[in-house]
Amino acid sequence: MSSNIRVEPLVFPESSGIDFGASVSNVDIEHLTDADFAAIREALFTHQVLVFKNQSHVTPKAQYELTHRFDPAAASKYGHGDTATGNKRSILHPDLRTIPHQPQVQVIGHGRVDEYEGLRDLRLKHPHHRTFHATAVPDHEDHDFTRFYRWHIDAALYGADLAPPVVTTLLAVKVPGGGRRQTCRYEDGSGDELDVPLGTTAFVNGEAMYDSLSEADKEFARTTKVEYAPHPYVWMSSARSRSDGLGLVSEGRELGIEDLPSPPDPKAVQILPMCWRNPVTGRLALQVHPSAVLALHLGDGTVIDDLERVRETVHRLQRPGIAPRRVYAHDWREGDLVLFHNRGVLHSVVGAFAEDEVRLFRQCNIAASHFPVGPRQQLGDQKVAAATAV
Ligand SMILES: [Fe+2]
Repeated sequence: MSSNIRVEPLVFPESSGIDFGASVSNVDIEHLTDADFAAIREALFTHQVLVFKNQSHVTPKAQYELTHRFDPAAASKYGHGDTATGNKRSILHPDLRTIPHQPQVQVIGHGRVDEYEGLRDLRLKHPHHRTFHATAVPDHEDHDFTRFYRWHIDAALYGADLAPPVVTTLLAVKVPGGGRRQTCRYEDGSGDELDVPLGTTAFVNGEAMYDSLSEADKEFARTTKVEYAPHPYVWMSSARSRSDGLGLVSEGRELGIEDLPSPPDPKAVQILPMCWRNPVTGRLALQVHPSAVLALHLGDGTVIDDLERVRETVHRLQRPGIAPRRVYAHDWREGDLVLFHNRGVLHSVVGAFAEDEVRLFRQCNIAASHFPVGPRQQLGDQKVAAATAV
């Protein structure tokens, strides 16, 4: 059976360096056939980010089922498990509310909502960079200027059974009208800035990030593994971000072992390849969660555990990939469903809403059944629930 789904690459101005993203139409997400799903899967791994317009009718259940279909062997567990969101010190805790009848789907947003999907009296807060960055846009410029909040991959990065989700789905239920725009500043000495729609989600392509490296850096990226901190989102809770949202400033503010929710478990520590292979195209993506990195394991067996040096190295490799011309800043409209390849792109929340600007989104991702495939592995050779063996 063939599918009638239409996939059209997003169109950008000629000066743009964005080489990913596609819109998908002629599809019924509530009743996907196997052929439809096969076409969506192929499109996702080819284009990295897919935009489905006018999907307000999609239920949390259908959103979950679409997300789960990318990894049918996965247990039905939210990508961060329970611990990251359940721990009060975790930096993820204030940003998420779980839908009671579909616990893999989270509500995020900004402002007051009386009732939504069984949740009452929601008071949502869009993350603001001033709560996470070492410096901030001055208050009097906050209406017009903003920053990338935190570039990241949706992943727990700790726990033998919490492999990084393959995909994430985001549905815009409510978006403030008005078409307000802001200027996103990097403020890292480059002078870089980017005009963005209010409350955009910014995406960059990890494959382009890898492709743009020098041959020497590609070799380094292919042969290096990244060790993530135990309980990373609690560990980093007192640390502060660089102004470009791409990793943390090294000021010694990370929590000590005694302040973590439990002593680090060597079996739960995740040491992942720096590059992850696309299961359809075979391309490599430079995929590192820059805020959660703890150490680098080089191909010759050397371990770099000087945190400042680790962060400088990762930032040097990733920063060209978030140059303004490479960032896709999605202009959210109500009913937009965005599906992204979480193992092939980095993304960031952006923007600062006013008190009365209400936004309501649903997000879903599921801890994967297998860890990402590294450069030296064959596709289909994934180790299940064995992070340190990857
Ligand atoms: Fe995210």
